[in-house]
Amino acid sequence: MVKLSRIGFGGLSISGVWGKTDDLTSIKSIHKALEEGINWIDTSPIYGLGHSESIIGKALKHKRGEAFIATKCGLYLGEDGKGKKNLTPEFIFQDIEESLHRLNVSTIDLYQCHWPDPSTPIEETWGAMKELVKQGKVREIGVCNFDIKLLKRIHKIHPVYSLQIPYNIIRTEHEKELIPYCQLNNIRVLAYSPLHLGLLSGNHKPENLSEQDRRKTAIEWESEEQLSLYYSFIEKMKLVAESKNITVAQLAIAWILNNSNIHSIISGMRTPQHVVQNTNAININLSNSEKEFLIFRA
Ligand SMILES: NC(=O)c1ccc[n+]([C@@H]2O[C@H](COP(=O)([O-])OP(=O)(O)OC[C@H]3O[C@@H](n4cnc5c(N)ncnc54)[C@H](OP(=O)(O)O)[C@@H]3O)[C@@H](O)[C@H]2O)c1
Repeated sequence: MVKLSRIGFGGLSISGVWGKTDDLTSIKSIHKALEEGINWIDTSPIYGLGHSESIIGKALKHKRGEAFIATKCGLYLGEDGKGKKNLTPEFIFQDIEESLHRLNVSTIDLYQCHWPDPSTPIEETWGAMKELVKQGKVREIGVCNFDIKLLKRIHKIHPVYSLQIPYNIIRTEHEKELIPYCQLNNIRVLAYSPLHLGLLSGNHKPENLSEQDRRKTAIEWESEEQLSLYYSFIEKMKLVAESKNITVAQLAIAWILNNSNIHSIISGMRTPQHVVQNTNAININLSNSEKEFLIFRA
C-alpha cells in the first residue's frame, strides 16, 4: 500500500474557478510537485466541471506510476450555479466513468464521496462504492465532510480509507472529537484548505480578488468582524514567520504538519514556486512557545 506524502497536490487551484489559470503552468506545477516528493493528487469532477481532472490526466500521461490519484463523486452544478449532492448508486456509477475518462486511467487509487447526501441512505451509497472496489475501478474508498455518525455506519460495511476535513491554524473545530475518532479507527485524516483558500498566505483580501474568482464570495461569507480577527491573527503570524525567515504561508503549512494526527494535507498550489515553498515547509519545526503564541482565539 502506498504511503501518502505529508503534502498532497490539491486540484482546485488549477481548475479555473479561482480566477484565470494557465494550463501549462498547472502541468509544470504538478511535475514540480512529483519532483519535490509529493506522491498524491486530489481532485473532483466539480473542480472546473472536469477541467482539473483533465489537466491532471494530461500531466500524468507518461507518469501514471508516480502519483496516487484521488478524486470524488456525488456533487454536480445545478442550473442555479450552486453545488448539488447526489450519492445514489446510479449517479456514482455514471460519475466514475467520466472521471476515469478525463483522468485517462483504468483505476482510481482513492475514490471519495464529496459531501453527504441526506436524501440517499448512506448504506446504499457505500454499497455502490464497495462494488467499485470489487470491479477494480477503484483501489480505496474514502469520504469528505462526514461526521462520526455517518462514519460509524459505513466503516462496518467496508473500511474507510480516509476522511477529508477543513483544518488549518484558524479552523481547529474538529480537534476535539472527529480527529481522535479517526485516529482510533485507522481512518487517515486529510486536511484541506490549509491556507484557508489562500487567505493565510497573507496576500488576499476579498477586495483584491477578481470578479471571476469564486473565493471572492467565499471569503466574503465571513462576517466583517470574523475577517478582521483573521487579519490581526495574520499579523501575529508574520512576526513568527519573520523571526524564522519563512513566509506566512509556510508557517501555516508547517503548523499543520507539526500535528502528527493529520496524515497529510492537501495544498492548492498554482505555480511551481508555490510547490517549492510549500514542500520546504515540511522541514520547519515549531517550538512549544511558538505554538502557544499561535493559538487562534475566535
Ligand atoms: N473535500 C472537500 O470538500 C474539499 C474542499 C476544499 C478543498 N479541497 C481540496 O483541498 C485542496 C486545497 O484546498 P484549497 O485549494 O481550498 O485551499 P488552500 O490550499 O488553503 O489555498 C490554495 C491557494 O493558496 C495560495 N497559495 C498556495 N501556496 C502559496 C504560497 N506558497 N504562497 C502564497 N500563496 C499560496 C494560492 O492562491 P492563489 O490561487 O491566489 O495564487 C492557492 O490557490 C483543494 O485543491 C482540494 O483538492 C477539498
